[in-house]
Amino acid sequence: MKHIFIAGGTGMLKGAAEHFIEQGHIVSLMARNSDRLEAIRAKYPKRKGKILTLSQDYRDTEKAMKSVIKAADMYSYIDLAVLWIHTSGVEFSEAVKEFLFKHHPKTKVYQLWGSATIHPKKLSQKEWREQYPEHYREIFLGYKQNGDSARWLTDREISEGTIRAVELDKPEFKIGIVDPWIVY
Ligand SMILES: NC(=O)c1ccc[n+]([C@@H]2O[C@H](COP(=O)([O-])OP(=O)(O)OC[C@H]3O[C@@H](n4cnc5c(N)ncnc54)[C@H](OP(=O)(O)O)[C@@H]3O)[C@@H](O)[C@H]2O)c1
Repeated sequence: MKHIFIAGGTGMLKGAAEHFIEQGHIVSLMARNSDRLEAIRAKYPKRKGKILTLSQDYRDTEKAMKSVIKAADMYSYIDLAVLWIHTSGVEFSEAVKEFLFKHHPKTKVYQLWGSATIHPKKLSQKEWREQYPEHYREIFLGYKQNGDSARWLTDREISEGTIRAVELDKPEFKIGIVDPWIVY
C-alpha cells in the first residue's frame, strides 16, 4: 500500500485517483471544490479513512504546502505524487517537488504537461530530470487523430495514460500524439 498525493485529482485525473483508491492505496487529493472531493470519498465508504481530501487553492503556496505536509505527516510518507497544476500554481508546483525530494527522497513525482498553447515538451523541467533521474517523471499530453481531424484527449484517456505511466515508470511518457504539435 502506497500513499499517493494527487494535485488536481478531481477533474481529468479523477479516474486515476479512483483507480489508486480501488487498488487499496492511501490517496490524498488536492483541489478547491470540496463537494467534488467529498463525492469521491463518498463513493468509497469502506476506504474513507484512507482518502484524505485537501480542499485548497494551490495558488496560495504557503497554505497548499501546509496541506501537503499535513498529508505526509498523517501517513508518515508520500510514496508517489501526481501533479496536474496549471501555470497559476507554478510556485506550489516547485515547492512541492523541493519538499518531496528533500524530505521524502524515495518519492516518485509524475508531472503532467498539457499542450493547449505550447508544445508540451517545451515545459519539460530538465533540472529536475537531471537531478532526480530515477524519481522525477513527466507525462506529456498530446492529441488524437481521427481521420483528417485532431481532437483533445478525453478525461478517460488521460487517466488511463497516467495509470500506465506509473506502471511503466519511465522518465517520460506521452499520452496521444505529441509530435508534430498542433494547435486545435
Ligand atoms: N492535450 C490534451 O488533450 C489535454 C490537455 C489538458 C486538458 N485536456 C482536457 O481539458 C479538460 C479541462 O482541463 P483542466 O485543466 O480544467 O483539467 P481538470 O483536470 O478537469 O481540472 C483541473 C483540476 O485541478 C483542480 N484545480 C484547478 N485549479 C486549482 C487551484 N487553483 N487549486 C487547486 N486545485 C485546482 C481542479 O479542481 P477545482 O476546480 O475544484 O480546484 C481539478 O481537480 C480536461 O477535462 C481534459 O480532458 C486535454
